[in-house]
Amino acid sequence: MTDQGFRCVGAADEGFSIELDGRSVEIPGGMSVLGALLLQADRDQQPDWFCAIGQCQRCRVRVNGHEAIACQTYPRPGDRIDTSDGWSG
Ligand code: FES
Repeated sequence: MTDQGFRCVGAADEGFSIELDGRSVEIPGGMSVLGALLLQADRDQQPDWFCAIGQCQRCRVRVNGHEAIACQTYPRPGDRIDTSDGWSG
């Protein structure tokens, strides 16, 4: 995050581990939960839709037990992501 509150998407922050449906996965820093899901999905499993701006609501997941919109949520180290409720990817 910059002083102005913007997230820098060009420079990769240091990576870290999150738990994705019970699996520990390493993701680059500064990546949204949606990005992490797409990074982990097989090519066949990737959705043919996503607005990535929080409008379609089709990327709902749970982060540490709380409902979240994957494209608008940035995970922290150790977060637990559960896609069993809403992720259609
Ligand atoms: S991809 Fe549309 S709300 Fe997240």
